Amino acid sequence: MASVRILGGRPLSGEVAIGGAKNAGLLALAATPLTDDPVIIENLPRLEDIRTMETILCGLGGKISHRESTTQICMKDFTGDPNGEAVTQMRASVCLLGSLVARRGRAVLPLPGGCAIGPRPIDLHLHGLQKLGCEIALRNGHIHVTAERLRGASLFLGGRHGSTVTGTANVLCAAVLAKGTTEIQCAACEPEVVDLCHFLQKMGAKIYDIGNPVLTVEGVDGLHGVRHRLIADRIQLGTFALLAPLAHGDFFLSPADPSHCGALLEALDRMAVPAEVGPNSIRVLGRRCLLRPTDLTTLPYPGFPTDLQAAMCVLMTQAEGISIITERVYPHRFAHLGELERMGASIALEGQSAIVKGPRKLTGAPTAAADLRGGACLYLAALAAEGESTVRNVQHVDRGYENFEEKLRKLGAVIERIP
Ligand code: EPZ
Repeated sequence: MASVRILGGRPLSGEVAIGGAKNAGLLALAATPLTDDPVIIENLPRLEDIRTMETILCGLGGKISHRESTTQICMKDFTGDPNGEAVTQMRASVCLLGSLVARRGRAVLPLPGGCAIGPRPIDLHLHGLQKLGCEIALRNGHIHVTAERLRGASLFLGGRHGSTVTGTANVLCAAVLAKGTTEIQCAACEPEVVDLCHFLQKMGAKIYDIGNPVLTVEGVDGLHGVRHRLIADRIQLGTFALLAPLAHGDFFLSPADPSHCGALLEALDRMAVPAEVGPNSIRVLGRRCLLRPTDLTTLPYPGFPTDLQAAMCVLMTQAEGISIITERVYPHRFAHLGELERMGASIALEGQSAIVKGPRKLTGAPTAAADLRGGACLYLAALAAEGESTVRNVQHVDRGYENFEEKLRKLGAVIERIP
């Protein structure tokens, strides 16, 4: 159990180097069993979740090597089933089902558990794989997927909360080697899914209408190796963008793809936080802002990202009035509210909406992270608060933010890890 101590209330400013997208990297790694050839991924962030996925691939006989910012993965002649312990640690491992069943006709994986943000069902994943001709059996907490021959099909992947990111990735990884054409309706359009489509296309897959909610895939007989550079992590960027006004500083964030950040830029504009958008960067002018309250709802892309909901709650505590943020993707994703209240926030939870009263002066307090994005928001609140805070269980944050403390120190933050 790791903790950090943060001395807040200090103005921060400077440049932040945004790393490769964790969730694009996880989807690409899960697709590597689709070819015997070596695959090179550039800009793969060195994060717990990435290391966990690499452990799973090595457990299957994969060979992985790192050189500077490139990672080479070779999944030739892989055998066995994914390692149970590592799989239950990280939900995205469920994406291996599609690539494993596409390459060798079978896959066995422990059912991924829930987590602090709520239940994590995979019914849509399994529905999509079944439509492609897979037999699915649940035995002793494991999913057994088998397929004589995957066949293309038209399938709908929407659920109660809209599209599914990893579900779309799973079905894509199976469809690219299926016999015939697959149409995925209500496909996720997140930039990380688009990046996976580009990754697969460069491996020889035939995918059409990339970025649209209806994807068409023409199955091919085999895929070859690829060298691919991941997109920048828009959630990491958004986390720093929301910190800038909290820390009354100007942040220059790059690399960035502003076309991936539309909902965030709109929210900053509504709250009167000036931002300058460049071709490969975003500058957030947080120095002097009188924040306007706003009303936001998290939605599948291109809606406001659920992964920035917690950080946005923190910013809303400083707005001049009452703000509302409604969580439509993970209705239970509010474990951070109690911790923010300990720091002086006043947030009422009405169903799936957090009603945030502002402005409220935040003061340092001992807090604890319960999940990745909720934990990161506690760093933001601690940096905005007067006095000293501690955040326990920061191993959650280590899963998704590479060199987070170092990047914050570079901006002027006083933060140290407590052994
Ligand atoms: C991906 O999770 C991301 N993780 C999440 O980021 C992100 O919050 C989420 O997409 C939404 O953007 C990775 O990409 C590794 P979903 P995923 O399937 O794919 C329901 C982070 O912090 N659903 O798009 O698991 C589900 O319960 C993580 O980096 C079903 O009902 O999310 C949720 O309410 C957290 N049945 C909604 O759909 C299914 O079969 C969206 O889930 C699948 C999902």
